[in-house]
Amino acid sequence: MVLNKLKPRRHRYAILLLSCTILMCVYFENSWKLLTQKYHVSEHIACVACAPKRKGTEWFFARYAPTVHLLLNSSNSMLSKDVSSWWTRLQKVKRNANYTTVVRNLFPLFPDQDPNRCRTCAVVGNSGNLLGSRYGPLIDSKDCVMRINKGPTEGFEEDVGSNTTHRILYPESVMDLDNSTHLVFFPFKILDIEWLISAFTTKDINETYMNVPSTINANKDKVMILHPEFMKYVHKNWTQFHGRYPSSGFLTVIFALHICDEVHVFGFGATKDGNWHHYFDKTLTPVANESHSGDIEYETIIRLHREKNLLMYKGWT
Ligand SMILES: *[C@@H]1O[C@H](CO)[C@@H](O)[C@H](O)[C@H]1NC(C)=O
Ligand SMILES: *[C@@H]1O[C@H](CO)[C@@H](O)[C@H](O)[C@H]1NC(C)=O
Ligand SMILES: *[C@@H]1O[C@H](CO)[C@@H](O)[C@H](O)[C@H]1NC(C)=O
Ligand SMILES: *[C@@H]1O[C@H](CO)[C@@H](O)[C@H](O)[C@H]1NC(C)=O
Ligand SMILES: *[C@@H]1O[C@H](CO)[C@@H](O)[C@H](O)[C@H]1NC(C)=O
Ligand SMILES: *[C@@H]1O[C@H](CO)[C@@H](O)[C@H](O)[C@H]1NC(C)=O
Ligand SMILES: *[C@@H]1O[C@H](CO)[C@@H](O)[C@H](O)[C@H]1NC(C)=O
Repeated sequence: MVLNKLKPRRHRYAILLLSCTILMCVYFENSWKLLTQKYHVSEHIACVACAPKRKGTEWFFARYAPTVHLLLNSSNSMLSKDVSSWWTRLQKVKRNANYTTVVRNLFPLFPDQDPNRCRTCAVVGNSGNLLGSRYGPLIDSKDCVMRINKGPTEGFEEDVGSNTTHRILYPESVMDLDNSTHLVFFPFKILDIEWLISAFTTKDINETYMNVPSTINANKDKVMILHPEFMKYVHKNWTQFHGRYPSSGFLTVIFALHICDEVHVFGFGATKDGNWHHYFDKTLTPVANESHSGDIEYETIIRLHREKNLLMYKGWT
C-alpha cells in the first residue's frame, strides 16, 4: 500500500528533479557568463576589496602589509610595545596624559569608521608644480579626492580641482571643512588626540607647541583617525626609518594605496625649475629637513609609479 502510493509520487519527483536540473543549468550558465563578463569588463569596478589584492613586484610586497591597522577604532586602539615606544618618541612636548585613558574618550564621541574603499583616488599634494598644470578636471573625475593640510581649492580650481572627499589634518594645520568631507586626522602625539576631543567638546585646548585653533568646523560623524601603528609601518617599511617620521603627504600616498583600487598622485616633488614650494604661497620649503626625508619619500613615490602601483603626475614635461 505504501509502495502503491509512492509510485505516482516517484514520477512527480523525477519530473520535478529534471526540471530543477534544467533550471539550475540555465541559471548557472547565465551567472557564469555574467561572472566572467563582469570580471573581463572591469576587474576594478565590481570589487570591494581590491586594495588588499594589489598586484606588484617583490619589491612592493616586501613593503606592503595589507593587514596593518589603518584607522583607530573602539576595538583596536591598544598599541603594541613597539608601536607605543616609537610613537611616544615623536612628541616633543612631554605630556603626563595616559594614552589608554585619553583614547577611552574617543569612540563614544566619534563613530567607528570603516576605511571606506574608493575605486579611484586623487592624492593632491601641495607642490608648486600644480600651477599651470590644468589637472583640475582630472582630479575632480576621481571618486575620492584627498587633500593635505591647508591646500586650498578656491582660486586654483583649474589646476587642483574643486572636490574634496578627504582632508588630512593635524592640530597645527587645521582648517574648516564642509559637511561632506572626511576629516582624516593624523595624531603625532597624545596631545593631538586630546585636542581632537576638545575641539568637538570643551574647546579648551588652544596650544600645542604653537597656538592652534581651539575648534574646527567639520562633520563629527566623518572623522577618521590614523592608527599610530600605520605611521610606524610607513616609517619602517616605506622609508626604512629615514627622517624622524614620515611626512603627512607621504603617509597619505601610502594610506591611499591601502584604501583605493587606483591611486593618482598630484602635486608632489619640485617644480620644473627645481623649486620646492607650495602652490598657494611662494615659500620655498627644503627637500629634506630634520623631520622628514623628502628625497627618500620622493624616490619611493617615483618607484611606485615605475612599478605601476600608482600614477604620478609631475605637472610638467
Ligand atoms: C577596527 O579595525 C580593525 C582593523 O584595524 C577591524 O578588524 C575591526 O573590525 C574594527 N572594529 C570596529 C568596531 O570597527
Ligand atoms: C595608563 O592607564 C592604564 C589604566 O587605565 C594603566 O594600566 C597603564 O599602566 C597606564 N599607563 C601609564 C604609562 O601610566
Ligand atoms: C566632483 O566635481 C564635479 C564637478 O566638478 C561633480 O560633477 C562631481 O560629481 C564631483 N564628484 C564628487 C565625488 O563629488
Ligand atoms: C551634516 O551631516 C550630518 C550627517 O552626517 C547631519 O546630521 C547634519 O545635520 C549635517 N549638518 C549640516 C550643517 O548640514
Ligand atoms: C588660550 O586659552 C587660554 C585660557 O584657556 C587663554 O587665556 C588664552 O588667551 C588663549 N590663547 C589664545 C591664543 O587664544
Ligand atoms: C614590512 O612589514 C611587514 C609586516 O610588519 C614585515 O614582515 C616586513 O619585513 C616589512 N618589510 C620591510 C622592508 O620593512
Ligand atoms: C620640514 O618640512 C615640513 C614639510 O615638508 C614642514 O612642515 C616643517 O615645518 C619643516 N621643518 C623644519 C624645521 O623646517
